[in-house]
Amino acid sequence: MGPYTVERLIGQGGFAWVFAARNDTTQPVALKILRPRYSGDKQFESRFRNESNVASELRHPNIVQILDVGQDGDITYFAMDLYPDSLASRLQRDGPLPEADLLRTAAEVGGALAFAHERGIIHRDIKVDNILYRADGGAVVTDFGIARAVSGYASATGVNMMIGTPHYVSPEQAQGRPLDGRSDLYALGVTLYKAATGELPFRSTDWFELARMHVEDTPEAPRARRPEISRRFERIILKCLAKHPDDRYASAAEFVNEVRDMGNKAKKTEQFGAIVISEKTQPPPPVRRTPVWMLLAGAVIVVALVAAAVVVLAKR
Ligand SMILES: Nc1ncnc2c1ncn2[C@@H]1O[C@H](COP(=O)(O)OP(=O)(O)OP(=O)(O)O)[C@@H](O)[C@H]1O
Ligand SMILES: [Mg+2]
Repeated sequence: MGPYTVERLIGQGGFAWVFAARNDTTQPVALKILRPRYSGDKQFESRFRNESNVASELRHPNIVQILDVGQDGDITYFAMDLYPDSLASRLQRDGPLPEADLLRTAAEVGGALAFAHERGIIHRDIKVDNILYRADGGAVVTDFGIARAVSGYASATGVNMMIGTPHYVSPEQAQGRPLDGRSDLYALGVTLYKAATGELPFRSTDWFELARMHVEDTPEAPRARRPEISRRFERIILKCLAKHPDDRYASAAEFVNEVRDMGNKAKKTEQFGAIVISEKTQPPPPVRRTPVWMLLAGAVIVVALVAAAVVVLAKR
């Protein structure tokens, strides 16, 4: 495929396959290859390239960098850095994540969204499969702009296609209303709900029913599904899941501030806890007993002082 040697299939989504590959300098990359049905379609391709170009201008440590968009015969592909893990795989492998890990991921994904939103770009497809992890545990968001290319194509051509699943769809998205960055915060709320409890807030095999649930139903409290979740983190998740965008965080930046503040307080509590524990485990300090001779000497001095005072007063 172009200058790349394809090694293995990592996964597939609605309109593409993702392969692990190497470039000619043997650097590992992930190759996203459009399914042939879309590769041959000029409309789709140009939208796809257009959005990839917009997305490739988003340079941020928590956004996947597109390295190259190319063509091999009829096949359109793009190359990006290859990541060893994703939130979807972690959940499948280890179950719900510890809260400290979730806070870090939430702050990093929120930071990526704030950066994109400030530049007028909405992700539209935040979900566990689109959050990848670097080897150092840092989270990176992938597929910026792709959802826009797909939905633009669908409305321009009338082709009935839906990206991903409707499990993360915001109420305004489900109703075809205009979107802003707060729609991504809703999808991030669904993502964090799943990462914290292991389950999606709404489940149904009927996609229309799912969309209705996102518009009308109140999600079950995360702590009802997993009591280990803290009250404050539960509040953060539920605020993202508010039906009306005005009831969510006003911006991704505001969300990040809240999550960071919670992370800092949690760290302080941990440190405070550590001090208390270490005090408890240390042997008690030896009790200092005052030697008897010191007590006697003290008594003699007091008596002498009182006697001196009596003498002085008597002379007056
Ligand atoms: N750069 C990458 N490094 C490692 N894994 C990746 C990379 N990009 C994508 N993946 C993984 O490959 C799989 C397929 O990704 P893809 O984006 O095609 O589908 P998706 O995100 O599951 O759904 P959608 O069709 O909505 O995009 C996902 O499981 C994703 O986590
Ligand atoms: Mg994806």
